[in-house]
Amino acid sequence: DKKNILGIAGSLRQDSFNRNILREMAQHTPDGMDISIFNLKHIPLFNADLEENGDPEAVEDFKDAVKEADGFLIVTPEYSHGMPGVLKNALDWAASVTNINVLDQKPVYVLGASPAPLGTAFSQAQVKQTLAAAGSFVLQQPELYIGKVPNKLDDAGNLQDERTQTKLHEALEAFDNWIDTMNRGKQ
Ligand code: FNR
Repeated sequence: DKKNILGIAGSLRQDSFNRNILREMAQHTPDGMDISIFNLKHIPLFNADLEENGDPEAVEDFKDAVKEADGFLIVTPEYSHGMPGVLKNALDWAASVTNINVLDQKPVYVLGASPAPLGTAFSQAQVKQTLAAAGSFVLQQPELYIGKVPNKLDDAGNLQDERTQTKLHEALEAFDNWIDTMNRGKQ
Protein backbone atom coordinates (compact mmCIF):
# COMPACT_ATOMS: atom_id res chain seq x y z
CA ASP A 1 0.00 0.00 0.00
CA LYS A 2 1.09 3.54 -0.71
CA LYS A 3 2.03 5.52 2.36
CA ASN A 4 0.04 8.66 2.86
CA ILE A 5 2.02 11.44 4.56
CA LEU A 6 0.50 14.66 5.86
CA GLY A 7 2.82 17.66 5.58
CA ILE A 8 2.53 21.08 7.20
CA ALA A 9 4.66 24.20 7.03
CA GLY A 10 5.01 26.17 10.27
CA SER A 11 4.43 29.42 8.38
CA LEU A 12 1.34 31.16 7.01
CA ARG A 13 3.36 33.39 4.67
CA GLN A 14 2.30 33.15 1.04
CA ASP A 15 5.88 32.77 -0.24
CA SER A 16 7.12 30.77 2.73
CA PHE A 17 10.50 29.16 2.11
CA ASN A 18 9.42 26.30 4.31
CA ARG A 19 6.24 25.67 2.29
CA ASN A 20 8.36 25.78 -0.87
CA ILE A 21 10.59 23.07 0.59
CA LEU A 22 7.53 21.04 1.59
CA ARG A 23 6.10 21.40 -1.93
CA GLU A 24 9.42 20.24 -3.36
CA MET A 25 9.28 17.15 -1.13
CA ALA A 26 5.69 16.45 -2.20
CA GLN A 27 6.75 16.60 -5.85
CA HIS A 28 9.70 14.23 -5.39
CA THR A 29 8.52 11.47 -3.10
CA PRO A 30 10.10 8.02 -3.02
CA ASP A 31 8.09 5.28 -4.76
CA GLY A 32 5.13 4.23 -2.66
CA MET A 33 4.69 7.55 -0.86
CA ASP A 34 2.26 10.44 -1.30
CA ILE A 35 2.55 13.73 0.57
CA SER A 36 -0.50 15.96 0.93
CA ILE A 37 -0.15 19.45 2.34
CA PHE A 38 -2.40 20.95 4.99
CA ASN A 39 -2.41 24.74 5.44
CA LEU A 40 -2.69 25.91 9.06
CA LYS A 41 -4.26 29.28 8.20
CA HIS A 42 -7.80 28.42 9.37
CA ILE A 43 -6.77 26.89 12.71
CA PRO A 44 -8.01 29.18 15.53
CA LEU A 45 -6.00 29.99 18.62
CA PHE A 46 -6.14 27.11 21.08
CA ASN A 47 -8.78 27.45 23.76
CA ALA A 48 -9.71 24.44 25.86
CA ASP A 49 -13.27 25.80 26.20
CA LEU A 50 -13.74 25.30 22.44
CA GLU A 51 -12.84 21.62 22.75
CA GLU A 52 -15.73 20.79 25.02
CA ASN A 53 -18.40 20.47 22.33
CA GLY A 54 -16.09 18.83 19.81
CA ASP A 55 -13.32 20.61 17.95
CA PRO A 56 -13.82 23.63 15.66
CA GLU A 57 -14.21 22.51 12.04
CA ALA A 58 -10.73 23.50 10.86
CA VAL A 59 -9.20 21.72 13.85
CA GLU A 60 -11.29 18.64 13.20
CA ASP A 61 -10.14 18.61 9.55
CA PHE A 62 -6.54 18.94 10.66
CA LYS A 63 -6.74 16.28 13.36
CA ASP A 64 -8.56 13.85 11.05
CA ALA A 65 -5.85 14.33 8.43
CA VAL A 66 -3.08 13.67 10.98
CA LYS A 67 -4.94 10.68 12.38
CA GLU A 68 -5.41 9.08 8.97
CA ALA A 69 -1.84 9.74 7.82
CA ASP A 70 0.84 7.05 8.02
CA GLY A 71 3.31 9.77 8.90
CA PHE A 72 3.37 13.46 9.75
CA LEU A 73 5.94 15.80 8.21
CA ILE A 74 6.72 19.21 9.72
CA VAL A 75 8.76 21.81 7.84
CA THR A 76 9.21 24.75 10.15
CA PRO A 77 10.80 28.17 10.32
CA GLU A 78 12.46 29.51 13.46
CA TYR A 79 11.26 32.68 15.18
CA SER A 80 13.34 34.16 18.00
CA HIS A 81 15.17 30.86 18.48
CA GLY A 82 11.95 28.93 18.92
CA MET A 83 9.14 27.41 16.89
CA PRO A 84 6.54 29.79 15.42
CA GLY A 85 3.39 30.24 17.51
CA VAL A 86 1.34 29.08 14.54
CA LEU A 87 3.00 25.67 14.73
CA LYS A 88 2.91 25.33 18.52
CA ASN A 89 -0.77 26.25 18.40
CA ALA A 90 -1.53 23.50 15.87
CA LEU A 91 0.47 20.94 17.88
CA ASP A 92 -1.42 21.89 21.06
CA TRP A 93 -4.76 21.20 19.35
CA ALA A 94 -3.42 17.93 17.94
CA ALA A 95 -2.06 16.71 21.29
CA SER A 96 -5.29 17.43 23.15
CA VAL A 97 -5.73 16.09 26.66
CA THR A 98 -9.54 16.51 26.43
CA ASN A 99 -10.22 15.02 23.01
CA ILE A 100 -8.07 12.54 21.07
CA ASN A 101 -4.28 13.10 20.94
CA VAL A 102 -3.55 12.35 17.28
CA LEU A 103 0.21 12.74 17.75
CA ASP A 104 0.51 9.80 20.14
CA GLN A 105 2.56 7.02 18.47
CA LYS A 106 2.51 8.93 15.18
CA PRO A 107 5.71 8.66 13.13
CA VAL A 108 6.94 12.24 12.60
CA TYR A 109 9.80 13.85 10.74
CA VAL A 110 10.85 17.44 11.42
CA LEU A 111 13.01 19.69 9.29
CA GLY A 112 13.26 23.39 8.55
CA ALA A 113 14.74 26.14 6.44
CA SER A 114 15.98 29.63 7.20
CA PRO A 115 17.86 32.47 5.54
CA ALA A 116 20.23 32.25 8.55
CA PRO A 117 23.13 29.77 8.48
CA LEU A 118 21.95 27.69 11.50
CA GLY A 119 18.85 26.64 9.59
CA THR A 120 16.23 26.32 12.39
CA ALA A 121 18.30 24.22 14.82
CA PHE A 122 16.73 25.81 17.92
CA SER A 123 13.22 25.65 16.50
CA GLN A 124 13.50 21.97 15.61
CA ALA A 125 14.81 21.13 19.08
CA GLN A 126 11.67 22.73 20.54
CA VAL A 127 9.36 20.91 18.14
CA LYS A 128 10.95 17.59 19.12
CA GLN A 129 10.50 18.39 22.80
CA THR A 130 6.79 19.04 22.23
CA LEU A 131 6.43 15.86 20.17
CA ALA A 132 8.13 13.86 22.93
CA ALA A 133 5.47 15.10 25.36
CA ALA A 134 2.78 14.09 22.87
CA GLY A 135 4.19 10.55 22.55
CA SER A 136 5.13 10.82 18.87
CA PHE A 137 7.65 8.48 17.26
CA VAL A 138 10.08 11.11 15.97
CA LEU A 139 12.73 10.09 13.47
CA GLN A 140 15.96 11.52 14.90
CA GLN A 141 18.31 11.04 11.94
CA PRO A 142 19.08 12.46 9.44
CA GLU A 143 18.83 15.94 10.89
CA LEU A 144 18.13 18.50 8.19
CA TYR A 145 18.88 22.16 8.84
CA ILE A 146 18.56 24.07 5.58
CA GLY A 147 20.48 27.34 6.04
CA LYS A 148 20.81 30.24 3.58
CA VAL A 149 17.65 29.01 1.90
CA PRO A 150 17.03 32.03 -0.38
CA ASN A 151 20.23 31.10 -2.26
CA LYS A 152 18.87 27.62 -2.87
CA LEU A 153 15.51 28.57 -4.43
CA ASP A 154 14.79 30.35 -7.70
CA ASP A 155 12.36 33.29 -7.99
CA ALA A 156 9.41 30.92 -8.38
CA GLY A 157 10.38 29.14 -5.15
CA ASN A 158 11.68 26.00 -6.84
CA LEU A 159 14.64 24.28 -5.24
CA GLN A 160 17.76 24.65 -7.36
CA ASP A 161 20.39 23.29 -4.99
CA GLU A 162 21.25 19.69 -5.91
CA ARG A 163 22.82 18.87 -2.57
CA THR A 164 19.64 19.87 -0.76
CA GLN A 165 17.51 17.92 -3.26
CA THR A 166 19.55 14.80 -2.49
CA LYS A 167 19.29 15.34 1.26
CA LEU A 168 15.52 15.80 1.08
CA HIS A 169 15.20 12.60 -0.88
CA GLU A 170 17.41 10.66 1.54
CA ALA A 171 15.40 12.01 4.45
CA LEU A 172 12.12 10.84 2.91
CA GLU A 173 13.57 7.39 2.30
CA ALA A 174 14.71 7.22 5.93
CA PHE A 175 11.22 8.32 7.01
CA ASP A 176 9.65 5.65 4.82
CA ASN A 177 11.78 2.99 6.58
CA TRP A 178 11.05 4.52 9.97
CA ILE A 179 7.30 4.23 9.43
CA ASP A 180 7.71 0.53 8.54
CA THR A 181 9.81 -0.05 11.65
CA MET A 182 7.33 1.74 13.91
CA ASN A 183 4.37 -0.14 12.42
CA ARG A 184 6.11 -3.47 13.03
CA GLY A 185 6.56 -2.41 16.65
CA LYS A 186 2.81 -1.78 16.99
CA GLN A 187 1.68 -5.27 15.95
C1 FNR B 1 12.72 35.40 12.22
N1 FNR B 1 13.72 34.74 11.51
C2 FNR B 1 14.62 33.93 12.19
N2 FNR B 1 15.45 33.03 11.54
C3 FNR B 1 16.25 32.22 12.24
O1 FNR B 1 16.96 31.40 11.63
N3 FNR B 1 16.33 32.29 13.60
C4 FNR B 1 15.56 33.13 14.32
O2 FNR B 1 15.63 33.12 15.53
C5 FNR B 1 14.66 33.99 13.62
N4 FNR B 1 13.83 34.85 14.29
C6 FNR B 1 12.79 35.45 13.63
C7 FNR B 1 11.78 36.11 14.36
C8 FNR B 1 10.69 36.64 13.69
C9 FNR B 1 9.59 37.28 14.49
C10 FNR B 1 10.59 36.54 12.28
C11 FNR B 1 9.37 37.07 11.55
C12 FNR B 1 11.60 35.95 11.57
C13 FNR B 1 13.77 34.80 10.06
C14 FNR B 1 12.98 33.67 9.43
O3 FNR B 1 13.84 32.55 9.29
C15 FNR B 1 12.48 34.11 8.05
O4 FNR B 1 11.52 35.16 8.21
C16 FNR B 1 11.88 32.97 7.24
O5 FNR B 1 11.64 33.44 5.93
C17 FNR B 1 10.58 32.45 7.85
O6 FNR B 1 10.20 31.24 7.22
P1 FNR B 1 9.16 31.18 6.00
O7 FNR B 1 7.95 32.00 6.35
O8 FNR B 1 9.89 31.77 4.79
O9 FNR B 1 8.87 29.74 5.81
